[in-house]
Amino acid sequence: MDSLPKELKGLIGPSILNADLSALADESHRLLNAGADYLHLDVMDGHFVPNLTIGHPVIKCLRKNIPKIYFDAHMMVSKPEQWIQEMADAGVNQYTFHIEAATTTENISEIIRKIKEANMKVGLGIKPKTNVNILSEFIDDIDVVLIMTVEPGFGGQKFMTDMMDKVRWLRKNYPQLLHIEVDGGINMKTINDCAQAGANMIVSGSALVDSKQPNKDIEQMREIIDESLKNKKYNIHLTNDQQCSH
Ligand code: DX5
Ligand code: ZN
Repeated sequence: MDSLPKELKGLIGPSILNADLSALADESHRLLNAGADYLHLDVMDGHFVPNLTIGHPVIKCLRKNIPKIYFDAHMMVSKPEQWIQEMADAGVNQYTFHIEAATTTENISEIIRKIKEANMKVGLGIKPKTNVNILSEFIDDIDVVLIMTVEPGFGGQKFMTDMMDKVRWLRKNYPQLLHIEVDGGINMKTINDCAQAGANMIVSGSALVDSKQPNKDIEQMREIIDESLKNKKYNIHLTNDQQCSH
């Protein structure tokens, strides 16, 4: 895909964090040829998270190699306001930043406005320890909510099932919110929890990168999500306790 769909459907975005980064373009093509819908590009600054990855110069080169596919830049950086224009110039379609990095409500709104002015979609993410309620006042202004299902920083960690309460809460309370993205530890088993909770944008790193049959796995992941969305199998009845606990 080259833009976000206007209807709710399963979208699979591999994270190339655990791939052979010296062969970034080849690895990306391999996963796109296997049927991935978009690429999730993990940008880390060694400050917001204890790791370093790639930045806009690398993404710009990747864009030359992959002209059309939707690029979601997951900005795990302390100053998300600093890289908006650079990422837009590099060809990023979605700028996903963390609410924990922006200190005040004014900052968050300002960053959202600047991302839109730079013609990118807005993703707003929360780390596992952040309460989901904090997103409420921004939901109408953004395109995607990102619920982290591991502590950001590294690939290959264990999926945190209890984060699904946040996804359920969002699906229930914000029917106008189309895209809920989940990221971290998602594989052929944990995809079922994501589907039942109502997530539709699925980031999967090591599971897809290491898979011997990525095309089958991507297709199956998408089917599981689409099936659940169609049947509205996800539990939309939450207690007040659950709503406030994360
Ligand atoms: C974690 C990153 C994720 C992660 C996904 O900080 O944001 O995108 O690398 O990789 P897996 O699926 O291996 O957890
Ligand atoms: Zn990520």
